[in-house]
Amino acid sequence: MTDKAGGTGAEGASAPTGPQRAASTARTAVVWEALRALLTGLGDTSDSPLEIVDVGGGTGGAAVPLAELGHSVTVVDPSPDSLAALERRAAEAGVRVRALQGETRDLADLLPAGHAHAVLVHNVLEYVDDPAAALADAVAVTRPGGAVSLLAANAVAGALHRALSGHVGDAQRLLADPEGRWGAGDPMPRRFTAERLVELVLEAGLIGPEVRGVRVFADLLPGRVFEGDPQARSRLVELEKTAAVHPALSGIATQLHILARRP
Ligand SMILES: C[S@@+](CC[C@H](N)C(=O)[O-])C[C@H]1O[C@@H](n2cnc3c(N)ncnc32)[C@H](O)[C@@H]1O
Repeated sequence: MTDKAGGTGAEGASAPTGPQRAASTARTAVVWEALRALLTGLGDTSDSPLEIVDVGGGTGGAAVPLAELGHSVTVVDPSPDSLAALERRAAEAGVRVRALQGETRDLADLLPAGHAHAVLVHNVLEYVDDPAAALADAVAVTRPGGAVSLLAANAVAGALHRALSGHVGDAQRLLADPEGRWGAGDPMPRRFTAERLVELVLEAGLIGPEVRGVRVFADLLPGRVFEGDPQARSRLVELEKTAAVHPALSGIATQLHILARRP
């Protein structure tokens, strides 16, 4: 099994190259490690595949590797282009992923209630009209005892990164804004604090939220760290795994990953 699930969605990293690729590997490793443990715990003794729904799963960055593990994966996404790319990606990998066009609000029409052992909502709550309603829709298709995996942009990191790039006023505005945005030019529609995400998770009826920070150091390191050092990336991965659950450091991660169970 390789460390390749986890999807996309880090701020400002659309086509990773060089140092960004190292950061991308670090993000992937932290999310994947948590997901792998979760899925192992959700499996029953018969070793039958799990039903996994990736809401807003886009082009299949998480869905295809999960299907490669033998799970039965459904992606629900409103973008026909993303779903077409997902189908190409799945075909190239030699797996089948069910692609359904729709939004979070369509989940109840597309899938039976309590269908999935695990529901991924990765980098989606930033874009929906109503995050609480979207999460409730995701929980409704999760079976009792199943889990929801939530990944979202961290407002604290947004402010930190904005200040470190010299935009101190933007950082101040972001921290004061309920949507976690620094202004009209901010490409991210919404960011969350860890407290707000946990609140949303509990309000949606989920229990036992575990919070991890994803990309604590990866987006802060200068590119020269990775130049001419083949070991730098693997050292960063190990550092990120430690920082992900560090009580202080996880709070400044670019993204927050929450796993929680449906009772
Ligand atoms: C930043 S991408 C994340 C894709 C993938 N989950 C990942 O982590 O790589 C956001 C995705 O959410 C989808 N999306 C936007 N609004 C949505 C909605 N209301 N319901 C479900 N998905 C939505 C978009 O089409 C897009 O594929």
